[in-house]
Amino acid sequence: MAKKHKRAMPKHPDKSPVELPDASWRRRFRGRLRRWYARNRRDLPWRRRGDPYAIWVSEIMLQQTQVATVEAYFSRFLQAFPNVAALAAAEEHEVLRLWEGLGYYRRARQMHRAAGLIVREHDGRFPRDRQTLNRLPGIGRYTAGAILSIAFDRREPILEANTVRLFSRLLAFADATTTAAAGRLLWAMAEAVLPRREVGTFNQALMELGSQVCTPRAPDCRACPVGPLCRAAAEGIQAEIPAAKIKPEFEFRREVAVVVRRRGHVFLRQCPPGERWAGLWDFPRVCIEAESPSAAGEELIEKVRLQTGLVIEPGAHLTTIKHGVTRFRITLDCYRARYVSALAQEDGTGQQRWVKPAELADYPLCTTGRKIAKLLAGGVNT
Ligand code: ADE
Repeated sequence: MAKKHKRAMPKHPDKSPVELPDASWRRRFRGRLRRWYARNRRDLPWRRRGDPYAIWVSEIMLQQTQVATVEAYFSRFLQAFPNVAALAAAEEHEVLRLWEGLGYYRRARQMHRAAGLIVREHDGRFPRDRQTLNRLPGIGRYTAGAILSIAFDRREPILEANTVRLFSRLLAFADATTTAAAGRLLWAMAEAVLPRREVGTFNQALMELGSQVCTPRAPDCRACPVGPLCRAAAEGIQAEIPAAKIKPEFEFRREVAVVVRRRGHVFLRQCPPGERWAGLWDFPRVCIEAESPSAAGEELIEKVRLQTGLVIEPGAHLTTIKHGVTRFRITLDCYRARYVSALAQEDGTGQQRWVKPAELADYPLCTTGRKIAKLLAGGVNT
């Protein structure tokens, strides 16, 4: 007799397509969300201003950065560049100086370029349609939707980390959220739930609910105004959604930076395009592969010469900084170094300068460069 094989149950037995909620669900959802937001909205600086410029700056800063960090940066940035014309007229290094510490500096450079285009090609006024906005550097579908809905009350959807999580749970969508198919589903949901009026307020309410209640870990389902409408909560699977991302493996790296001194000045270089921290300034910094200290010393001298044209003699160890950038886990050793001579720079044509230690405060430095500069300012003798 043929043996019966017991099949393992697939995790999601019915792989039928996820259906978007019907009109009655959407009506109840909007009502509940609106009432909750009226009572729970945070007083954030960009919510006090409704103009597209402020909304744009805040949304760019909020990409990959927490609200609590953005608040102070936003206020300083708007004080320095109160409108798009002021931003367009600024030098890139001034923009980067105010962005310093926020990370992802490409955002700042793209904003600066986009400000120039708005002034030159759009008379200093923000385009009010998605296609034209999307042609500006750094303005993708999400940012365009946020500017159009929040500043102009256009009926445009938004989808960012908070709303991806919120919609995935509402729909009990347990697959990876980074696929094209997931994107289509979640954007369709973002569009389906939109009200006809006060769209910007509604979109902000979605993000607020995602960040304050429908949190990545331990969502507060009991406090959730839309809990009764949530398919994940009904099935008790909210903790498994969104599906965990496969984390990239860490790559460990050893780098060395040198504070090269000459006649009361220190040497700085501007990171060229394509390098991590492009546009920001830094002390000469190179990746070291050699294991033995003597070979590492020779590698350092050679790589600094290639990078800057400087011939140096490494000196005392100043500090070790451990930090992470994307998948890299970096141990950065910082040394003093004596200037010996200068040859032609072979490694690109980036800008480089001798600056007085007191001038370091005016330069937009990369994160580790600033740490080293603070160390020097704090009394380590240069
Ligand atoms: N995250 C991204 N944009 C946001 C906004 N406008 N308010 C709160 N959190 C956000």
